Amino acid sequence: MTPPPVTGGEARSPGVDPEALVASAVEVLEATTTLTELDEAQTELLGKRSALVRAHQALASLEPAQRPEAGRRLNEARRSIESHLSERREEFERGERAARLQADRLDLTEVIAPPLRGRLHVVQRTRVELEDVFVGMGFVVAEGPEAETDWYNFEALNMPPAHPARGMWDTLYLELGEPETVMLRTHTSPVQIRLMESQGPPIYAVMPGKCYRRDTPDSRHIPTFHQIEGLVVDRGISFADLAGTIETFTTAYFGLDIHSRLRPSYFPFTEPSAEYEITCTICKGKGCRTCSQTGWIELGGCGMVDPAVFEAVGLDPDEWTGFAFGFGIDRCTQMRHEIPDMRVFFDNDVRVLRQI
Ligand code: PHE
Repeated sequence: MTPPPVTGGEARSPGVDPEALVASAVEVLEATTTLTELDEAQTELLGKRSALVRAHQALASLEPAQRPEAGRRLNEARRSIESHLSERREEFERGERAARLQADRLDLTEVIAPPLRGRLHVVQRTRVELEDVFVGMGFVVAEGPEAETDWYNFEALNMPPAHPARGMWDTLYLELGEPETVMLRTHTSPVQIRLMESQGPPIYAVMPGKCYRRDTPDSRHIPTFHQIEGLVVDRGISFADLAGTIETFTTAYFGLDIHSRLRPSYFPFTEPSAEYEITCTICKGKGCRTCSQTGWIELGGCGMVDPAVFEAVGLDPDEWTGFAFGFGIDRCTQMRHEIPDMRVFFDNDVRVLRQI
């Protein structure tokens, strides 16, 4: 195809009008939607086969006098097309950069949906919360085995063989060693002995864990349950320290409107001993079925470490004093969440467990 001649001066027709070249180039550029299309348009508008190049070649066919002017106008057209082209290129690049930034953007305000993998059982959560309260009061957390020997579960706790206090407890023995020497522990108090044997005073520790008793399940009892034991051994510890610790714990965990009281009681390993009770959170002390109409719920027992226990672990009772307490974690959960019947924790009906 022979390129159309470029006109110079006023008389443009019938040659190529550089301004028309620019106008149609702008149209082509505006129609592009991607950088690849733009590259193609560049070849089409400025490449060897472009109308512009052909118009340049056609200059040769002009009168020599007309050539410089026509050439100047063609060069102007080329510059104009080039600048439109680079403007368009920048537009695309800006857009691409913005898109990339948008895609890379980290939304730090995004709420991550909780994983659907479940969570700790409410009794385990109580255990963690109780540990936190005591750690905040300066205690450390310790643990002991669930299968215990007679020595730890009874004897070192001042319950020699045939002691009447064993009566309600000596039940769940394991077929291990001599008959009736290894059992599922009935309380967490054996960990007191283990701690005193393995480390010297001062001791400020809590010991949570599972316990087993031949109990008939009812609204406040479960045969496999959880306790948290406390033990303080130091010089000059008094019953007031025990009462203060219990009260501080009660208000920290249950809130300021729940009170504690200690009622005289008996445990072979503490002297004096007390029952630790709190205001029934279900009736707020008025009396209901759960608290047997008393307005109080027993959480556990406590007292000053009996001198016989210190002797059993080789500590001098004239030098060392201490207190111990042990109470039910399940009972705490029940009171904290105001649940009339403890059995719902272990029926494992997820519709219930999801609510607490
Ligand atoms: N171990 C006792 C129980 O299970 C509770 C207790 C612990 C009492 C520590 C006094 C001191 O009933």
